[in-house]
Amino acid sequence: MVKQLSAQLGNHAHDLLFKTIHQRYLIYNMCWEDPRIDRQLLGLDQHSQVVVLTSAGCNVLDYLLDAPAEIHAVDVNPRQNALLQLKLALIARGDFSDLDQMFRQGSHPHFRELYAVLRPQLPPYAAAFWDKKITYFDPGNRKRSFYYHGTCGTVAWLVSRQLLKSGRKLRGYLLDLLDAQTLTEQRELYQQIEPALWGRFSAWLLRQPTALALLGVPRPQIQLIQQQYPGGIIGYVSDKLRYVLTEVLIHDNYFWRAYLTGSYTASCCPNYLREEHFPQLQSHLDRVQSHDATVSAFLRAHPGQYSHFVLLDHQDWLAWHQPQALEEEWRLILANSRPGSRILLRSASDNIRFLPDWTRQALRFFPALTEALHRQDRVGTYGSLHFAEVA
Ligand SMILES: C[S@@+](CC[C@H](N)C(=O)[O-])C[C@H]1O[C@@H](n2cnc3c(N)ncnc32)[C@H](O)[C@@H]1O
Repeated sequence: MVKQLSAQLGNHAHDLLFKTIHQRYLIYNMCWEDPRIDRQLLGLDQHSQVVVLTSAGCNVLDYLLDAPAEIHAVDVNPRQNALLQLKLALIARGDFSDLDQMFRQGSHPHFRELYAVLRPQLPPYAAAFWDKKITYFDPGNRKRSFYYHGTCGTVAWLVSRQLLKSGRKLRGYLLDLLDAQTLTEQRELYQQIEPALWGRFSAWLLRQPTALALLGVPRPQIQLIQQQYPGGIIGYVSDKLRYVLTEVLIHDNYFWRAYLTGSYTASCCPNYLREEHFPQLQSHLDRVQSHDATVSAFLRAHPGQYSHFVLLDHQDWLAWHQPQALEEEWRLILANSRPGSRILLRSASDNIRFLPDWTRQALRFFPALTEALHRQDRVGTYGSLHFAEVA
């Protein structure tokens, strides 16, 4: 009884902590979903009207390279849209080197002067947010990089410091791993690294509700993993990490590089940070609109017949806590789609049985295709990938 009560209190505290963090902070400083996989499924073209959750906006800009007619970047956390707006303002300004320094290298020697020029182009909320947070890009800051700010960035900073400082040998193996060109090299290096990864610090960290909340992992996802995965959360993370670092080529894996080193390189970075794509981004900027809203509120306010919905993993969040909100979101998605509209989502679970039953009649899934692509995902931390067409 006491145990049950303390578990309930613990759950309640975690939910409250997660809610507080999400209502106050920038969580994601890079999009944690692989757009190379998305591109193979979405088939965007000049007729596409896309609804996507913003997160850090990296994948919104990646999709823009396929020149869809419109992209609606929707996020309930306005700080995430403020980040996208800063990127849009930098691209509109037209100097690739500024974009490169701010978002590839993670800092800019003249960040204050640059911000003064960009500020008038930002919507009011984004300006108010960056007025307080533009020092994230200060190269003189102890963390030296934007990618170590925001709540995910803070955890990345703590973990990467811990790893890179725990001996010259380990540091060398980790940096060599990022530069490895073959899976054989990766496997040899990872064999050396793995025992050091699962020390007391990481096991402790993964048991901390605060650390998981800062990483943007809500309790529903933790519970999904704990109930379904042999070895629980530590087993899940260690298996996923081993797979992505030994079975998927790492030389262009910009996700793990940025969190380990604080920056991308010119050859290992998101597409929106490649100079050859800059003119295309500039000419299509007006096709992106951001919306501070839930997906359902956005669809109610902007009804349409959208061709694509990219839902990331946010339905894991809804499935557990807000099944009615999940039902409502699906009704709105289907009411605002057309036959053949494409829907992409990921989950921490290996299945999405949490979808309302009635959606199955309205959707056609492609499991053989997504299972094969999921194995090539450079992020590698999700349990499954799902792609459906509206019947
Ligand atoms: C689902 S989270 C997960 C992170 C993600 N996998 C990524 O790529 O970074 C992505 C974003 O969804 C937003 N979000 C969560 N639920 C939402 C909802 N119902 N409507 C709109 N945005 C939502 C969060 O604020 C967050 O910025």
